[in-house]
Amino acid sequence: MTQVNPYALETLSNFLKGKVIIVTGGNSGIGKAIVETVARLGARVVIDYRSHPEATEALEQEIGELGGSSFGVQADVGKLDDLQRLVQAAVDRYGRLDVMVNNAGIETRTSILDTTPEDFDKVLNVNLRGVFFATQYAAKQMITQGGGGRIINISSVHEDWPMPNNTPYCVAKGGVRMLTRTAGVELAPQGVTIVNVGPGAVATPINDSTMNNPELLARLNAAIPMGRMAQPEEIARVVAFLCSDAASYITATSIFADGGIMQSSPGL
Ligand code: BGC
Repeated sequence: MTQVNPYALETLSNFLKGKVIIVTGGNSGIGKAIVETVARLGARVVIDYRSHPEATEALEQEIGELGGSSFGVQADVGKLDDLQRLVQAAVDRYGRLDVMVNNAGIETRTSILDTTPEDFDKVLNVNLRGVFFATQYAAKQMITQGGGGRIINISSVHEDWPMPNNTPYCVAKGGVRMLTRTAGVELAPQGVTIVNVGPGAVATPINDSTMNNPELLARLNAAIPMGRMAQPEEIARVVAFLCSDAASYITATSIFADGGIMQSSPGL
């Protein structure tokens, strides 16, 4: 029997051929892995970023060397003018927008008792308001250009599963859960599909404080049935599938890639 390496994504390089995909927060963490993965699969990628232009430039160069196409746009998803400019930049350069990946996110790791109004606004602004209006602007563009489109929101297991001491984050992700369901139902007749991807714990900068604390990391790994955090690429591959026509019948729902953490049970 022929052995096929499931990770040799290069062999699928026509999978996303020519699709125009925006990835917010695209120069680090899960966003960066999504950018690299979909570019390798033939997509034309708009890399949104807020800080570290040098990381974006390095990514553009890496994709260029692989024969792919991408460009960076500095835009803060917490600012609506920036979001509009981001969608417009994709259209100006590539003529259309096929997939909007709302990936950018932040967390404060504060409890209900010590979250300040400033913390609350900051998290909700990026993780929920930004996703809401990015969905609106992207969907309007997709409807105007015709032929439908797809919006993928990088949510979290915490859209449904409490994380004590990270309350504003959970509240925002819970909002994104209902945004995807409601907007997905509203926009299905117009060919715009919307899906959440819910990662569990992923080895990215957002989890630096856990990864730098061996005791905390051991407790986290013990809570995950698969016994380890995900690598960002393991989330990016799910997103790549959802960007493709292979995922044409999925909308208004969430797909979790969490190593089983949401179902974890001590068996007591
Ligand atoms: C959060 C992390 C957390 C992980 C698993 C993610 O959505 O950003 O802080 O470790 O979920 O609980």
